[in-house]
Amino acid sequence: MKAAILHGVDQPLAYEDAPDPQPGPGEVIVRLAAAALNHRDVWIQKGRYAGLKFPIILGSDGAGVVSALGDGVDGAWLGREVIVNPGTDWGDNPRAQSRGYRILGLPDNGTFAEAVKVPAQSLCIRPAHLSWPEAAALPLAGLTAYRALFTRAHLHSADRVLVTGVGGGVAIFALQFAVACGAQVFVTSGSPAKLERARAMGAVGGALYRDENWAQTLKAESGGFDLIVDGAGGAGFEQLVDLAAPGGRIVNYGATLGLPPGLDLRRVFWKQLDILGSTLGTADDFVALVQFVQTRHITPIVDQVFPLAEAEAAMRHMDAGRQFGKIVLGSG
Ligand SMILES: NC(=O)c1ccc[n+]([C@@H]2O[C@H](COP(=O)([O-])OP(=O)(O)OC[C@H]3O[C@@H](n4cnc5c(N)ncnc54)[C@H](OP(=O)(O)O)[C@@H]3O)[C@@H](O)[C@H]2O)c1
Repeated sequence: MKAAILHGVDQPLAYEDAPDPQPGPGEVIVRLAAAALNHRDVWIQKGRYAGLKFPIILGSDGAGVVSALGDGVDGAWLGREVIVNPGTDWGDNPRAQSRGYRILGLPDNGTFAEAVKVPAQSLCIRPAHLSWPEAAALPLAGLTAYRALFTRAHLHSADRVLVTGVGGGVAIFALQFAVACGAQVFVTSGSPAKLERARAMGAVGGALYRDENWAQTLKAESGGFDLIVDGAGGAGFEQLVDLAAPGGRIVNYGATLGLPPGLDLRRVFWKQLDILGSTLGTADDFVALVQFVQTRHITPIVDQVFPLAEAEAAMRHMDAGRQFGKIVLGSG
């Protein structure tokens, strides 16, 4: 098969021949119609991720047709159109993953290829209203947004919600899911055009995070937030503590901008804030995500579809941060 292979830190993805994956017991092969990028892939390429190994086929998100079954797999899966849960071996505790938790695309070969080997337990039937690129766009970012909003932060329709960096893959899902639940959603972005797109999708307000007074602007517009969903971290995180309403929740799933240089704990305890961490999700979260997307008829936003052979161009597009929504590999 063809695959986009990473041979080392800071190397471009090489479009090359790779051995066809063979299913072991309990595993299946999915012929991929589309795959999608996550920021994780860029972090791995830059060497900023734990457990690096090379060569590796990156990619945590994929959708396609089941083309081969290992021993013990229900024959009904053959030929089914599926999306893949990127996480395996979460473990027994729904509150946190086990040490054995693995994400597709490192250490195991991922979806930037014509086919991928995954456990049969990771499969979900493709929601009928989604095209292949839309289906591939859903798993990792959708799961992260779903668990952060619902399982961890218990989103309520009366919440005033802030989603930071709305152009990001996870952030757009958080916007879509919270709007679908009737919450009032505000956003931040680095781009006026992305703020406009977010408004068109139901955001009621927003601010440019590069503006000196972005936090004051949002405070004046909203009066403070019951729930803040953040994947950026960095210096702006302190302002999120200011922006949270008394009794509010801040759920963080990423640190694109690094660690916050300081955190005024007095404001955290005085305002009775919950600061929650969230990472991907359980198998139950994944099933609930797919059901939610089906029943609410949510369509993932696809920024651009690149051919698999141009996976490196897709990585540079993500690194530049110009996207609004998911960057997809496939034929469209
Ligand atoms: N814990 C988990 O399970 C998990 C899962 C997925 C992702 N993550 C992490 O979450 C982060 C986002 O991932 P992603 O795949 O959604 O990435 P992405 O699609 O590349 O999005 C990154 C976004 O960061 C935003 N951003 C940049 N500077 C910002 C600032 N100063 N303030 C606020 N936002 C800023 C940008 O928003 P604009 O485009 O609007 O300017 C950009 O679109 C990454 O660090 C990733 O590693 C963690």
